[in-house]
Amino acid sequence: MILNIGCGDANLYECFKERKLIVSCVRVDILHPLLNAARTTIMGDPNVSLIQDDSDRLDKVKKEYDIAIYCHTIEALCSPKGSLLKARKLAKEIVIRSFEPPEFETDAVELRNKDVGEGKEVPYIRRKMSRDYYRLILSKIGCTSVDVYPDGTSKDQVHELQYKA
Ligand SMILES: C[S@@+](CC[C@H](N)C(=O)[O-])C[C@H]1O[C@@H](n2cnc3c(N)ncnc32)[C@H](O)[C@@H]1O
Repeated sequence: MILNIGCGDANLYECFKERKLIVSCVRVDILHPLLNAARTTIMGDPNVSLIQDDSDRLDKVKKEYDIAIYCHTIEALCSPKGSLLKARKLAKEIVIRSFEPPEFETDAVELRNKDVGEGKEVPYIRRKMSRDYYRLILSKIGCTSVDVYPDGTSKDQVHELQYKA
């Protein structure tokens, strides 16, 4: 069972579908317009539930998960640390895909606008995380090492967090 945090319009669902992967998945996002778009994407798939919740709290997410996946989400969170602490309690594994891998010297946060359809825009943040901050928050969740999988076609990186046995 997968927990997809910050699912947006369920892009990841399309990736699973293209690869014919059938997995039970709970997809969470804070924004209703994006969850409405996700509802259209999943087309009533009974394996998928959509939940509106704040990734810092995840109060509405009750089960235990095999994997929590952040796909292009960690850079958009006000509190990556709060969210990762919560995800650590809910899931056995955490996988993070970033388009801004945490390799910067300093932390920077930019405010942008996102078109959410129906002529509406919502503000969102785009974070560039320093290596030091990333290491600090991973240490807070008991992560001892990170397996890094670069994506040859973009600057994306996929990080699989490892914990002590
Ligand atoms: C850049 S989008 C990525 C969406 C999707 N995962 C993808 O790969 O297309 C970042 C997402 O994080 C969501 N998000 C931002 N802050 C959040 C929060 N506090 N709790 C839950 N979702 C949040 C946004 O609403 C948005 O859908």
